[in-house]
Amino acid sequence: NIQLFDEKYRPQYHFSPPQQWMNDPNGMVYLDGEYHLFYQHYPDSNVWGPMHWGHAVSKDMLNWEHLPIALYPDSLGYIFSGSAVIDHGNTSGLGKDGNDPMVAIFTYHQNQKGQTQGIAFSNDKGRTWTKYKGNPVLKSPGIPDFRDPKVSWYEQTNGIGKWIMTLAVKDKISFYSSPNLIDWKHESDFNPDWAAYGGVWECPDLFPLTTPEGNKKWVLLVSINPGGPNGGSATQYFIGQFDGQTFTAEGSDVKWIDHGADNYAGVTWSNIPREDSRRLFLGWMSNWQYANIVPTQAWRSAMTIPRELQLVRDNSGNILLSSAPIKEIQNLVESTNVIEGASFMLDHNLFQLDLEKTPEQSGSVIFSNDLGENITLQITHDEITFDRSNAGKTDFQDEFGNIHHAPIKNIKIKNVSIFSDRSSLEFFFNDGEMVMTEIIFPNAPLLKVELKGFKGENKVHYFKSIWNN
Ligand code: FRU
Repeated sequence: NIQLFDEKYRPQYHFSPPQQWMNDPNGMVYLDGEYHLFYQHYPDSNVWGPMHWGHAVSKDMLNWEHLPIALYPDSLGYIFSGSAVIDHGNTSGLGKDGNDPMVAIFTYHQNQKGQTQGIAFSNDKGRTWTKYKGNPVLKSPGIPDFRDPKVSWYEQTNGIGKWIMTLAVKDKISFYSSPNLIDWKHESDFNPDWAAYGGVWECPDLFPLTTPEGNKKWVLLVSINPGGPNGGSATQYFIGQFDGQTFTAEGSDVKWIDHGADNYAGVTWSNIPREDSRRLFLGWMSNWQYANIVPTQAWRSAMTIPRELQLVRDNSGNILLSSAPIKEIQNLVESTNVIEGASFMLDHNLFQLDLEKTPEQSGSVIFSNDLGENITLQITHDEITFDRSNAGKTDFQDEFGNIHHAPIKNIKIKNVSIFSDRSSLEFFFNDGEMVMTEIIFPNAPLLKVELKGFKGENKVHYFKSIWNN
């Protein structure tokens, strides 16, 4: 008799599955006022297993309605990660009465036979799905890791274009193109020797963004596991040019979308209407190092806060990918308090705490409880560290309590917004120039705050609980 959505560590304004196992976000697509979120899901257990696509929809990426499982494994394999598009112009011919179908492009995984890509389509706004009878549409070239297709429309001139599939192939990215989502042709590979390697490359995404000066650049996200800067899973990104065939990176330094341990396999929504024009991102808030054994039972894992990605310039003029919480999150604010002083108690653990750094000093933030548990965030001139080693339950895995380091390069930390939920903290520095996403399992909420190196007046915004209503 588990009470759904009100368990001890159950996130209250982050997406989590109604029950059992979840990993990567999949098939994120917007249609007619609804943001769709599919996700890697095993409905029969709270550990990873035969993968399905779970499904939910939302009008604001925060309040979610759970829908029935969209895709079940079949004789071609488990349903691994992938994407979804609206097939404008019905290039696939899978639309009913010539309408534009929603098409999901995913990986079929079979233990001995490897991985292939399949498609499925829906003609009722994602409510029911039919797998394409000619699956697989892209066969494995005989290597085990060949997965996570992210498909987008690449417009050449005046409405003429082609579909581009960005695919993770062992430790490189391969680009394929297609006129119809069914017939795919290999275009090129990307794997510069200076990139971050360590295990497999997974869950890529490719999209354009404009620089602060208004120039178009292409961003390539590549999740890697293991090999992250703080152990296990993490997502690196590249900024460069894409000409419809080849991606060319500019610069040769490794860049991470998030310096915390718990933002993996994140990708962006497709089909966001032109008048919105935001690039909206969601990541899986866990790490393969311990995802299967974190101390929750009824469900396992949550997604990050949805984030808006933008290109910004650091103090040396280099372009960075910033991630800021979506503005819709302000609709969850129930009350805002100004805080005086460097030591105070918070009312509950669903909040956004906005802190202003003093220019000269190093700084630290400590959250603690009466049980003597705490977390510490420390900012020096050249790095940020996050310590959850004494934050309650940590011993379920050896490395969970390690201190996380984030080097500060060419920026000066001026402010930090800290988003807390029942079992996570997300730190956005300088409105998203740097981010650290971290999960925690304290035995009681960490509501006592002590600040060093921050200005006297700070703000806390309390959020209402969505799931628990
Ligand atoms: C990333 C990943 C993907 C794969 C899926 C399987 O976390 O390993 O590469 O498609 O999870 O669940």
